[in-house]
Amino acid sequence: MRVGEILLTQEQINRRVTELAEAVNRDYPGGDLIVIGILKGCFVFISDLVRQLSGDVQIYFMQVSSYGNGTVSSGTLKIQKDIEVDIAGKNVLLAEDIVDSGHTLSQLVPLLKKRNPKSIRVCALLSKPSRRQVAFEADYTGFEIPDKFIVGYGLDCGERFRQLPYIAEVELGPSEEEN
Ligand code: IMP
Ligand code: MG
Repeated sequence: MRVGEILLTQEQINRRVTELAEAVNRDYPGGDLIVIGILKGCFVFISDLVRQLSGDVQIYFMQVSSYGNGTVSSGTLKIQKDIEVDIAGKNVLLAEDIVDSGHTLSQLVPLLKKRNPKSIRVCALLSKPSRRQVAFEADYTGFEIPDKFIVGYGLDCGERFRQLPYIAEVELGPSEEEN
């Protein structure tokens, strides 16, 4: 497994994250926002995003997994780490690295809605629309990308390459192909 072609440079990502933060700031003029990062992939994105938010912001993290076969997520969402705050009556913004099949967020958003937030929106850095198995679109999307497995800027392949400051394709060897 090795890092291949760069899809999004540090500069492209920085510019787009600033635009996303500006859009969020415009939409929540009073501030007062609970930002929930979906671990682990969100950790670089959320840190760049929240440092450009102007309002009264609280930050929490959740970790979830959806079981399925291979690298394709499906099935029931399992909460591995929940937030330690009551979101009833609050404005919630979920920060996610990528919407791929759509399974994770199409289950997580309704689950969180049951806790009666005032509003809930999703900000995803990336989306692979051609991979959707369940209809789901984020309220804010950084980039739509083609059906390629990518790493860097928090995203991993087998826990590797999260530290890369850019987003690149990953090249699997012939024996490593999973799906
Ligand atoms: P879902 O398929 O939309 O439920 O996305 C599940 C999760 O799969 C995402 O939150 C990512 O963590 C991971 N994922 C999907 N595509 C990629 C990719 O190209 N690289 C790294 N992780 C990915
Ligand atoms: Mg993720």
